[in-house]
Amino acid sequence: TDRYAVFGNPIAHSKSPQIHTAFAAQTAQNLSYDALLAPVDDFAGSFHQFLSDQGKGANITVPFKQDAFELAQQLTERAQRAGAVNTLWQDEQGVVHGDTTDGVGLVRDLTENQLVSLQGKRVLILGAGGAVRGVIEPILAHAPQQLVIANRTVSKAELLAELFADLGNISGCGFTDLNGQAFDVIINGTAASLAGELPPLPEDLLAEKAACYDMMYGKEITVFNQWALDHGADKAIDGLGMLVEQAAESFRIWRGVLPDTKAVMASLREQLN
Ligand code: ATR
Repeated sequence: TDRYAVFGNPIAHSKSPQIHTAFAAQTAQNLSYDALLAPVDDFAGSFHQFLSDQGKGANITVPFKQDAFELAQQLTERAQRAGAVNTLWQDEQGVVHGDTTDGVGLVRDLTENQLVSLQGKRVLILGAGGAVRGVIEPILAHAPQQLVIANRTVSKAELLAELFADLGNISGCGFTDLNGQAFDVIINGTAASLAGELPPLPEDLLAEKAACYDMMYGKEITVFNQWALDHGADKAIDGLGMLVEQAAESFRIWRGVLPDTKAVMASLREQLN
C-alpha cells in the first residue's frame, strides 16, 4: 500500500482523505491517505519524517504552501509562477517534486463542470493573495479578452499583474477603479468571505449573463454568491468543485489516472446539507 497524506495546521476537518480514498476505490489503486498535523514552525521536519515512513506524496494546505514551495527540489513551471505548492511527491531517485493544482482545479470546475467559457471574456478576480496568485496562469491559458485583478491593497494587485504580464492581457487595480466597468466572469479570491464580509463592489459590475465563482464554500450560500444573485448573475458557483478538481489533478500526478469527480462532488455536497 502506497502512503499519501495531507499536511496542514489545523487539519482535522480536511476533506482530502475522504476525497482521495474515494478516488482510490474508483480507480482500483492500492493506497492509503491520512490527514497529518504539522507544527507551524516545522513543516519540513514533518514531511521528511513522512518520507522516511514510506510516504510517497502529499497535499499541502494552509499554512504550509509556501514552505512546500521552498522544500521542493524541483518545481513545475506553474508552481514556480504561483509561488506555492499544494502537491509534493518523491521520485525513484529521491528527488522531491512540487506542483500546484489549485488553478487547474478552479478552471476545470468552471469550464468543464459548470460550462462557463473564459475565452474572449472579460474576467475579474477579487483579491491578490496566495490563493489568487495560484489561479492566474491557468485562467490566462484560456485566453480571456482581459483579466483584471482588483484588491484592497492596490499595490499587491499591480504586482501580480506585472508577474504574469507576459502570459496575457492582465492588469491590477483597486475596488473603486471598477466603477463603470462590467465583467462576464467574476471570481472571488479574497479572504473577506471568511469573515462574512464583502469587498465594496459597484452595483453594475456584472455584464449580461455573468457567471460568479467564489473560491469559498459552505453549507449556506456565501456572501459573495448571494451578492451575485442579487445583482443579476446567471450563475453563482461555490468552491466545492475546485476542491475536488484540485484533488483529482494531484491524484493524476501521483497515480497517472484522472479520477471521475462527479460522484465525489455529489456526496460532499450532500454532507454539507
Ligand atoms: P490567501 O492565501 O488565502 O489568498 P492572503 O494572502 O492573506 O490569503 O490574502 C487574502 C486576500 O483577501 C487579500 O487579497 C486581502 O486583501 P489585502 O491584500 O488588501 O490584505 C483580501 N481580504 C481579506 N480581508 C478582506 C476584506 N475584509 N475586504 C477585502 N479584501 C479582503
